[in-house]
Amino acid sequence: MALELKSISVSFGGVMAVSEVSLALEPGRVTGLIGPNGAGKTTLFNVVSGIISPNSGRVILDGHDLTSTPPHRRARRGVARTFQRLELFGSLSVLDNVRVAAEIAGRERPDVVAANLLEQVGITGRADSVAADLSTGSARLVEVARALAIQPKVLLLDEPASGLDEDETLRLGRLLRGLAADGLAVFLVEHDMELVMDVCDVLHVLDLGRLIASGSPDVVRRDPAVVQAYLGVA
Ligand SMILES: Nc1ncnc2c1ncn2[C@@H]1O[C@H](COP(=O)(O)OP(=O)(O)O)[C@@H](O)[C@H]1O
Ligand SMILES: [Mg+2]
Repeated sequence: MALELKSISVSFGGVMAVSEVSLALEPGRVTGLIGPNGAGKTTLFNVVSGIISPNSGRVILDGHDLTSTPPHRRARRGVARTFQRLELFGSLSVLDNVRVAAEIAGRERPDVVAANLLEQVGITGRADSVAADLSTGSARLVEVARALAIQPKVLLLDEPASGLDEDETLRLGRLLRGLAADGLAVFLVEHDMELVMDVCDVLHVLDLGRLIASGSPDVVRRDPAVVQAYLGVA
């Protein structure tokens, strides 16, 4: 078990954004989290990466309680993420965006690390481009490369396929399967159902802050509560 969420609840004012959510991420698996807009997916990611503290519940990584650990120390422990809204350094080159992350993480030869990561995500050709000039698809891949620079155990991806074309989405899917094959625990929030069904080993469905279904993609897609709350098809 790489990461365990134990009965996590978050409220904003009177709104329960996340309500008693428990789930576990395992190394070598892609775990999907789906649900309608406002279901609490990003809030749950913010709890895992430490950007917000839950009102109750615990975040455990490899047996260590990280619930009160600040984001930068969590990253050091191996929790990396990308953002729903891209957060690259626009004025830096693609290579430098990744190199800086490798440097901060204390990697040796950060330039080499960065070049290898760009190759791994398949955007070597854009290494010298200014990040602000990238297409959304390429920028999302750079964000993944940057997250990988800290050699995470757990990688959280918040809607990585949004703005990607079909080819880029296929490449992203292959990349995620490859990362899982390397032993990473991947936690994926995504609206593209084809991608989700394709790459996830396990799927959790959030609705109004509560988990309403968990299981293999095939089982979850047939769950009547999920069909009603989210998929909208019989
Ligand atoms: N910082 C915040 N302050 C107040 N309400 C918030 C905040 N962040 C999220 N919410 C609310 O919490 C709920 C869950 O939001 P979010 O986690 O962004 O959902 P999702 O990512 O599934 O679309 C929504 O009702 C949203 O309006
Ligand atoms: Mg969100």
